[in-house]
Amino acid sequence: MQDVYTIEMLNITKRFPGIVANDNITLRLKKGEIHALLGENGAGKSTLMSVLFGLYQAEEGIIKKDGKEVKITNPNIANDLGIGMVHQHFKLVQCFSVLDNIILGVETTKNGILQKAEARRKVMELSEKYGLKVDPDALVEDITVGMQQRTEILKMLYRDNDILIFDEPTAVLTPSEIDELMQIMKNLAKEGKSILFISHKLNEIMEVADRCSVLRRGKYIGTVDIKDTTKEELSRMMVGRDVQLVVSKGEAKPGETVLSVRDMSVASKLHHNNAVKNVSFDVRRGEIVCIAGIDGNGQTELVYGLSGLEPIVGGSINLCGKDISKASIRSRSTSGMSHIPEDRQKHGLILDYSLAYNLVLQRYFEPKFRNALGFLKEKEINAYANELIDQYDVRSGQGTATIVRSMSGGNQQKAIIAREMDKEHDLLIAVQPTRGLDVGAIEYIHRQLIAQRDAGKAILLVSLELEEVLSVSDRILVMYEGEIVGELDPAKTNREELGLYMSGARREAVKV
Ligand SMILES: Nc1ncnc2c1ncn2[C@@H]1O[C@H](COP(=O)(O)OP(=O)(O)OP(=O)(O)O)[C@@H](O)[C@H]1O
Ligand SMILES: [Mg+2]
Repeated sequence: MQDVYTIEMLNITKRFPGIVANDNITLRLKKGEIHALLGENGAGKSTLMSVLFGLYQAEEGIIKKDGKEVKITNPNIANDLGIGMVHQHFKLVQCFSVLDNIILGVETTKNGILQKAEARRKVMELSEKYGLKVDPDALVEDITVGMQQRTEILKMLYRDNDILIFDEPTAVLTPSEIDELMQIMKNLAKEGKSILFISHKLNEIMEVADRCSVLRRGKYIGTVDIKDTTKEELSRMMVGRDVQLVVSKGEAKPGETVLSVRDMSVASKLHHNNAVKNVSFDVRRGEIVCIAGIDGNGQTELVYGLSGLEPIVGGSINLCGKDISKASIRSRSTSGMSHIPEDRQKHGLILDYSLAYNLVLQRYFEPKFRNALGFLKEKEINAYANELIDQYDVRSGQGTATIVRSMSGGNQQKAIIAREMDKEHDLLIAVQPTRGLDVGAIEYIHRQLIAQRDAGKAILLVSLELEEVLSVSDRILVMYEGEIVGELDPAKTNREELGLYMSGARREAVKV
């Protein structure tokens, strides 16, 4: 029997200044399947999905829905065709409630009056049916990313979409939220909905997808059945070489203390208690200390306190023998602190600046980049930016002149990592550094972290990924409800024991 395709994207070509983001790509989606889309950072995945969703118009190629050619010139048309999309960076109205976001644009009215009660009933029904827990009256700006994502999914279901595009939905979720999402996607597919799923995590693709299509540098490489493939084959297809999926490193040789934190407390924005409560720990030269924990246990605020994004309300922070408890962000940076922040768009980049300017954000005032009159030395800045772009393989359409907003998510991340690792520092605070990176880039970044350690830097890694925590760190501190509740040796522990500490089921006093 011939396969029935609900969506066919045939010979799609989409160009941006300086780059062919999609070069003659053909992708076919079967009804009721979960189809993964895999490719390196900048391979063209988000672009292809944006063409299907009507955000971009392809220069060449056609799209068919159930065998008939359609012209999707804007997202409303996509919606009418039953196509919905959860974007890599969510598109919710922050100051609206969850319910208002879901119904925005498809409000039911009667004699011009909004019928909210009925909308609420439908939303709650959907929420119940698919296990998508949300608080309909909470403001989006106050809820976790997990709930924001459930809101986005409900938005699609509320519109009765039956072709669902998920652009890296798991990059911002906690492990248990990821398990939930996998289950939700399976249920949706069982009901006959067709799903396109972008992820860099090969485990997820192996678990949930029926088929997987691979893109590389804008080109279509192939489509495989998941049951006939392996993670190794997928990564080879994607990167074009074998990738080492495990990290290899030698013994740590810790030296003098670089960061010393004593009884530090940081207030919470969400409740009256402190988010970080009397935390004390040290990080020494030549070691990678990892803060592990379930998202929302104070890790974010801990880093805000250390980096100066939030004031601390008690205790002290010492960097290389200097008290920086009240220092400005700039002075912490020039005193030797590098910081790869959790939210790359909010705290890591100026999206409307060029890539070159973003790469010197912490250093543009140095004599190397600015002359005595206060003018920037564009030539030096560009030369330096080009070095970093080469070394860290930051891909974009127009090199140093690219506006960062137009870069792919993973390449935005690589730009921040390049800047923070290359700037002079004694301490590197890396929060989820590999979030959204492809396996090849993760391999490179993990090697860089270890190289930095071996060159005598102190590294504080904050990660939600147990795999990363266990393979990269030399010492693990577990945070639970704002406190450090355990110190573990990665060589002697395992996921289960770590899980006990992370869930608060076990704790011990930690000495510093
Ligand atoms: N609006 C735009 N303007 C200019 N260039 C763009 C635009 N959107 C994407 N690009 C370029 O197209 C290429 C493909 O980007 P895309 O976002 O599709 O990659 P991706 O596969 O989703 O990568 P990632 O895994 O990092 O999210 C990138 O080089 C990017 O710089
Ligand atoms: Mg993308």
